[in-house]
Amino acid sequence: MTLSLSVDEALATTRAVRRRLDFDRPVDEVLLQECLELALQAPTGSLRQDWHFVVSTDPEQCQAVGAIYQEIWLGRIDDNYLAKAAAAETDPTARADWLRMMDSARYLAENFPRAPAIFVPCIEGRLDGAPAGLQALRWGSVIQAAWSFCLAARNRGLGTCWTTVHLAREQEVAEILGIPYDDVQQVALLPVAHTIGTDFKPGRRKPFDDFVHMNGW
Ligand SMILES: Cc1cc2nc3c(=O)[nH]c(=O)nc-3n(C[C@H](O)[C@H](O)[C@H](O)COP(=O)(O)O)c2cc1C
Repeated sequence: MTLSLSVDEALATTRAVRRRLDFDRPVDEVLLQECLELALQAPTGSLRQDWHFVVSTDPEQCQAVGAIYQEIWLGRIDDNYLAKAAAAETDPTARADWLRMMDSARYLAENFPRAPAIFVPCIEGRLDGAPAGLQALRWGSVIQAAWSFCLAARNRGLGTCWTTVHLAREQEVAEILGIPYDDVQQVALLPVAHTIGTDFKPGRRKPFDDFVHMNGW
């Protein structure tokens, strides 16, 4: 069963979910498979489908991977870091939003090992030091599919949060999940869980005109 969200509703309300992940409720693999089927409909450069998607609902794997995330995040972000980074944002609303987001990110770090499922989109072949064009080709394919997964998950009452900090210890995560590190590059690590409630709102963003350049820059 899905929430039957319209495409626009799903696009506007697929948030980085952290505090509203239900860590105590298992996720049925059938739901994950449905999301993955939809993800595989995403475009790939030259239809190469040079991607892999590692999903785990194994409690030991989720716990071990989540513990790595937790160690890196908590080891890296302290009050000093937060104060310095917040000071760099001059707009008070954006600063308050950022601090709230970091508070939520801390909550995720503290609880990541409890995630009932994890999703790791990967690229076939490592891109370390590759030219920008090749990087764009490969990242541009897998990320679209992974975001489709997030949208499909949202429509099934599942929350996700795109994260990348585990890449500092990518090889250890590869070992836990059996990913052949020399041949496959991880792109992100997402917790997947049922959301607590299914009503999500559009996020606040900086003004449209700061970023959009119609008919030239
Ligand atoms: C490339 C990328 C890396 C991210 N890394 C992290 C991360 O390591 N930890 C985390 O909690 N959130 C991470 N996020 C989530 C962002 O904080 C989130 O998408 C952003 O704040 C917007 O949140 P919203 O959708 O709830 O408005 C990442 C998002 C992206 C796109």
